[in-house]
Amino acid sequence: MTEGRPVLSETRGAVAVLTMNRPEKRNALDDAMRAAFLEAMEGARRDGAVRVIIVTGAGEKAFVAGADISEFERRTPVDQWRAMKAVSIYDAVARCPKPVIAAINGYCLGGGMELAMACDIRLASEVARFGQPEVNLGLIPGGGGTQRLPRIVGLGAALRLILTGELIDAAEARRIGLVEEVSSPATLMERAVALADVVAAKSPVALAAAKEATRAALSLPLDDGLKLESALFQLCFSSEDKAEGVRAFLEKRPPQFPGR
Ligand code: COA
Repeated sequence: MTEGRPVLSETRGAVAVLTMNRPEKRNALDDAMRAAFLEAMEGARRDGAVRVIIVTGAGEKAFVAGADISEFERRTPVDQWRAMKAVSIYDAVARCPKPVIAAINGYCLGGGMELAMACDIRLASEVARFGQPEVNLGLIPGGGGTQRLPRIVGLGAALRLILTGELIDAAEARRIGLVEEVSSPATLMERAVALADVVAAKSPVALAAAKEATRAALSLPLDDGLKLESALFQLCFSSEDKAEGVRAFLEKRPPQFPGR
C-alpha cells in the first residue's frame, strides 16, 4: 500500500478492500479520489481472484464526508454537467457484478452516503453518523440520494433526512433500515471481512445473477422482473458453478465454485 494514494487497494484472499484515503479531509470526494476509486473498482472487477469488495474509509473519523465542497466554488455548470456525464462511482458499485459491502467507520454524509447506498450490504460502526446535508449548501443530493434513499428506508424517513440535512447516529440508521448491522469501531472490519468471506464462498455466477435480479426489483414492473429472474435462473443452469454446487450437495461435501 502506498500511503499517499487517494484510494488504497488491498486483497485479502478473495476479498478486495478499497479504502478512501484522505482522512485529514474526512475522506471528502474530490476528482482525484473519484478517478482512483473508479480505477480500483475496475481492477477488483477484472481480477478473477476477487469475489467480494469491501469499501471503507481511512482514519477513525470518516467513511466519506461527501463531495469535496471546496471544488464546488470554482466549478461551472458545464464542468458539473461534463463530470456527471462520466461513469459515476455510484454506478460502478451498483453495476459491479461482484457484491460490494460498505464498512461505514465514521461520517457518512452526502456523496458518502450515496456511495454506501450504492453498495449491496451496509455495516456500520457505533460511531458512524449519516446524513444528506446538501440543502445546507443550496444543493440537493446528486449521486442518487433522492432515488436510492427512499427505496431503502421509505419516503418518510428519506424526506426527513433530505429536507432537514440533519445527521442521525448508527442506532437510528439501523432502526430505519439504512444499515444492516452495527458493531464497535474495533470489530467493524472483522465483521465486514467475515461477512465477505461467507459471500465469497458462494458461486460468483449466482451472485452476479442474484445481484442483477434483486436490484431490478426496484425499477422493473413485477412481470418484467419475474421474466428477468426466470432468464437468469435458466442461465445459471449453463454454469459450471451450478454443476459443482449440485454435485457437491449430493456428495455431501462443500462446493468449490470455479466461477464459470
Ligand atoms: N469537503 C471539503 N472538505 C471537507 C469536507 C467536505 N465535504 N468535510 C470535511 N472537510 C475538511 C474540513 O474543511 C477540514 O479541513 P481543514 O482542516 O483544512 O480546515 C477537515 O476536513 C476536517 O474537518 P472538520 O470539520 O474540522 O472535522 P470534524 O470532525 O469537526 O467535522 C464533519 C466533520 C464531516 C461533520 C464536517 O467536516 C462537515 O460537516 N463536513 C461537510 C459535510 C457535508 O456537508 N457534506 C456534503 C457535501 S455535498
